[in-house]
Amino acid sequence: MILFTSNKLTRLLRIAANKPSAFRTGTVLKSGAVCCVQPNRNQGSVDRTSLQGSVDRTSLQGSVDRTSLQGSVDRTSLQGSVDRTSLQGSVDRTSLQDRQKQQMARGLPKHKPVSGVEHVIVVASGKGGVGKSTTAVNLALGLLANDPSRSVGLLDADVYGPSVHKLMNLQGHPELSDKNLMIPLRNYGVPCMSMGFLVEDTSPIVWRGLMVMSAVERLLRQVDWGSLDYLVVDMPPGTGDVQLSITQNIPIAGAVIVSTPQDIALLDARRGAEMFKKVNVPVLGLVQNMSVFQCPKCLHQTHIFGSDGARQLADTLGVELLGDIPLHLNIRETSDRGQPVVVSSPDSPEAEAYRKLASAVIRRLQEVNM
Ligand SMILES: Nc1ncnc2c1ncn2[C@@H]1O[C@H](COP(=O)(O)OP(=O)(O)OP(=O)(O)O)[C@@H](O)[C@H]1O
Ligand SMILES: [Mg+2]
Repeated sequence: MILFTSNKLTRLLRIAANKPSAFRTGTVLKSGAVCCVQPNRNQGSVDRTSLQGSVDRTSLQGSVDRTSLQGSVDRTSLQGSVDRTSLQGSVDRTSLQDRQKQQMARGLPKHKPVSGVEHVIVVASGKGGVGKSTTAVNLALGLLANDPSRSVGLLDADVYGPSVHKLMNLQGHPELSDKNLMIPLRNYGVPCMSMGFLVEDTSPIVWRGLMVMSAVERLLRQVDWGSLDYLVVDMPPGTGDVQLSITQNIPIAGAVIVSTPQDIALLDARRGAEMFKKVNVPVLGLVQNMSVFQCPKCLHQTHIFGSDGARQLADTLGVELLGDIPLHLNIRETSDRGQPVVVSSPDSPEAEAYRKLASAVIRRLQEVNM
């Protein structure tokens, strides 16, 4: 019996392949020593049955020397490689974690300062309509009124419902600087930027995820603020994309949380404050807005939204109550006219309340940055 090793078989097949004419012409090949592959004259091709039959399986199998095959696996070296793998595994895990951290950090936006701006102060609240924009505008003007040598800017980050342009009585489109940056519009000594300058008042802003991020990115990066000591940012309500985008993109010196003393507003204010804490933004404190209403005729005081809710929340959160702003017709009317109370009625108790708030904010900024 002829012993076939797999090498021999391969060689035989190759020979068969190289002699197609022999198959085609039906030349009878000598069986035995040269080739056991019998051409099938009728088919003119390799007869698989005979090909298979000619391969002696037992001998073919037998030709694989198991002992030597097994022997070729060096146990010691195998174990060695296992040991090395497990050892290396623990080393690799640490470096893998490091790499993962690096990659994740790469995915997150880096805190990059707003060009020319020293301190960013955000005015926020979880809830809508509690007076964030009114507070932001009067805070910016209060900062300037307390120290006119300081430069203060105002950024309306409420890309869905901008209002700073109205409150500051500004209209028109920003011009572009030599560096292709938007030049803020200015009133009452405060440069302002708002989505309200870029979209028509009547057109609805229907943006989602990435579009919002890109709008915020533009407002943060493509504005020529010059040199500012403070940039007051009026945040939209809630704790969504805009808030996260801003807190992740720029270093924020501190957050001022506005709330009415009403339970439902306090709940959202708390969420807002907790969000800033989570992303390591110092919460400078709370502002209790619309706390008390004084009748202009009889001077009777009414706590329409409750009396001390924000103060209690401040205690619970371990933050300061920075200011207590009354619910006052003068504040609403001057806001609607685009002549904020701090500039239009500087001697009023309402304006005084905002200036006091501005002083408290500066004091807290110094404390948290010490
Ligand atoms: N202390 C106040 N006294 C009287 N009116 C006030 C006071 N604060 C705010 N307002 C009025 O309340 C309304 C809502 O205020 P504002 O727009 O500042 O709230 P907001 O929190 O910015 O709202 P949004 O969440 O929609 O941005 C406005 O009409 C404003 O003039
Ligand atoms: Mg607002």
